[in-house]
Amino acid sequence: MPTPDAPLFHSLTPSDLTPAQWHPFLVGAVAPRPVAFASTIDAEGRVNLSPYSFFNAFSSNPPILVFSPANRVRDNTQKHTLQNVREVPEVVINICDFALVEQLSLASTEYAKGVNEFTKAGLTELASELVRPPRVAEAPAAFECVVEQIIELGQNNGAGNLIICRVVRAHFRQDILLPDANGIDPFKLDAVARLGGDWYCRASGSSLFEVAKPNRHIGIGIDQLPEHIRTSDVLTGNELGRLANIEHEALPTSEQVTEFRAEPMVAYLLNKHETEPEALQQQLTHLGRQFLAEGRLLEAWKTLLLSRGA
Ligand SMILES: Cc1cc2nc3c(=O)[nH]c(=O)nc-3n(C[C@H](O)[C@H](O)[C@H](O)COP(=O)(O)O)c2cc1C
Repeated sequence: MPTPDAPLFHSLTPSDLTPAQWHPFLVGAVAPRPVAFASTIDAEGRVNLSPYSFFNAFSSNPPILVFSPANRVRDNTQKHTLQNVREVPEVVINICDFALVEQLSLASTEYAKGVNEFTKAGLTELASELVRPPRVAEAPAAFECVVEQIIELGQNNGAGNLIICRVVRAHFRQDILLPDANGIDPFKLDAVARLGGDWYCRASGSSLFEVAKPNRHIGIGIDQLPEHIRTSDVLTGNELGRLANIEHEALPTSEQVTEFRAEPMVAYLLNKHETEPEALQQQLTHLGRQFLAEGRLLEAWKTLLLSRGA
């Protein structure tokens, strides 16, 4: 915990720092970032494969992926991937899953130009359908792309070069599809992402969770929560956000709240703490949080509304 006099934030101006000093703050905080292998070829047809985490999807229609090979901080030289897409403006973006992460890391080794990292990383080349660079057979998803534009973001060490890629064909392994094949099952994808330093994370199991999209309806917003809920010392920002994602019309009526007093767990608490209003309020808030955690929004609302009168 910071002492009362210590500033709450460590604030920096990037231009006051060397690229090497600034970089760990940037990649440590902008995290986790998806990781992909970019496969490219040079004018002589020699294949290159390298991982990139300055990478994401930026448009659905047109389907655009962007990644950024940076000029090396050490000596301001350019990555082979960048040199290749200048020579042959085509690339395959191969998604990395947990099973591939060590081979992905190995493929980042600075082998000499012309050395094929598919071979070095023990990965299999699969011929693409519409572009010349091969794709990674082991990757759960691969996007064949044409390079639309290369945007140099600077000339100095560490400057990024945005490679704007338009997807012309995509391949998704059958076993990662949702049962009706209309999308990707996140549990089956088993994606990995990169943070700062040598840290990665794995998007699987209990680290995956859902947040209901607020755009299906107009939620009341945190400012409209009853004051005793909005200013609670116990409810977290996530819990308030979940409570506030409810339409006015869906809020329980006062009759429904009164009826809820008969709900066995609520009745038990009302009875047990009949003469202890503070303990009752605490217990009802606790129960409300439990309902929220179970996704039982209306029950959470009724319990928390009851806690006001406790
Ligand atoms: C997971 C991971 C992500 C990386 N992301 C980037 C990145 O976004 N930009 C970059 O310039 N280098 C990145 N690198 C480093 C490059 O992969 C590395 O410099 C590689 O040697 C470049 O290969 P090339 O010269 O054959 O293109 C990353 C390395 C790893 C292991």
